[in-house]
Amino acid sequence: MKGLILSGGQGTRLRPITHTSAKQLVPIANRPILFYVIDDLAAAGIRDVGIVISPETGEDIRAAVGDGSAFGVSVTWIVQPEPKGLAHAVLCARPFLGDDSFAMYLGDNMLEQHLEPFLVGFPGADQLDPTGPVVNARILLAHVADPTSFGVAELGADGEVLRLVEKPSDPPSDLALVGVYLFDSSIHPAIDRLVPSARGELEITDAIQQMIDSGCRVDHQVVSGWWIDTGKKDPLLECNRLVLNRLEKRIDGEVDAASTIGDRVVVEAGAQVINSVVEGPAVIGPDSLISDAQLGPYCSVGAGSRIERSRVENSVLLAGVTVVNVGHLTDSLIGRNSEISGDGSTTGRFRILIGDTCQVDVSEAEHG
Ligand code: TTP
Repeated sequence: MKGLILSGGQGTRLRPITHTSAKQLVPIANRPILFYVIDDLAAAGIRDVGIVISPETGEDIRAAVGDGSAFGVSVTWIVQPEPKGLAHAVLCARPFLGDDSFAMYLGDNMLEQHLEPFLVGFPGADQLDPTGPVVNARILLAHVADPTSFGVAELGADGEVLRLVEKPSDPPSDLALVGVYLFDSSIHPAIDRLVPSARGELEITDAIQQMIDSGCRVDHQVVSGWWIDTGKKDPLLECNRLVLNRLEKRIDGEVDAASTIGDRVVVEAGAQVINSVVEGPAVIGPDSLISDAQLGPYCSVGAGSRIERSRVENSVLLAGVTVVNVGHLTDSLIGRNSEISGDGSTTGRFRILIGDTCQVDVSEAEHG
């Protein structure tokens, strides 16, 4: 079985971060989201992994992942010239996929559960029961509170998927499609029959519906742990919180006697914490400086960042970020090498989403 990770797309919902970098490289607990996806495929025994990238952000992704050996996989790069939909990405990957079964994973999705158990009984991934029905595709589903904003499945009595509906006003169930799918080669003729949707994309839900309509068997499994599509700021911060919760305390950098470090805090090598309070969970990247500051809970601070005379909570800071004299920064996502500064008079709470190399001055403006 092969793996296919979709890491192209436009990432419009995470602008302006995605103007200059790939959303799949945004770090969760200081590790790109994409790395967790590759780990999950590798842990499921999948060694041959294709990664779909866009011409705009693909080079950064290639540089970050390398040849895959760091993850124990071999990577084939597939450039999708334009983001024309998930099924279009599969079409672009066809030379890589051949007739093999594959697990397709959206490169900005994270699951609490591992992929491996979902492969059980799927052709190409597992020993099959010769008396059981042949399964051509398997979708993963999660119970959601508001199915009207998801792709939703209607199931038959034996768990077979009967129908998929995008953002239904009258949902047939509360089971939403999670960004992980298993396919055999019958997905390819189904994609060949597709026409672009109203938004001009080849939709994977339409391709699966085509499979069902042409007599293929599509089954499902329900995920029990959390599942997050990190394509927007608040779910991304939630994902960061969930992953930070797993941290174990580790102090490889320097912490002075005037500082207090809580549980589930990681201070990486070369980082310095001076006269500060760090409430876990939090991770402080290599060569960062935290001085006269209050950090956490739920902060990821990228390498080479500097936080001084400020409070930062529930935020993801990419590498090289500076936060100085800012009252209280919360629920924020700050791009690489950006700088937020105040004059010390600022007492409010700030929620900020900015891209790379931005400057924000939060000083009180003078009247006049
Ligand atoms: P989406 O989040 O559905 O789409 P997007 O990345 O274009 O983002 P937005 O809706 O905010 O503009 O994509 C899910 C994943 O699939 C993500 O990792 C990007 C990837 N993808 C492709 O590789 N090719 C595509 O054509 C599309 C639409 C997405």
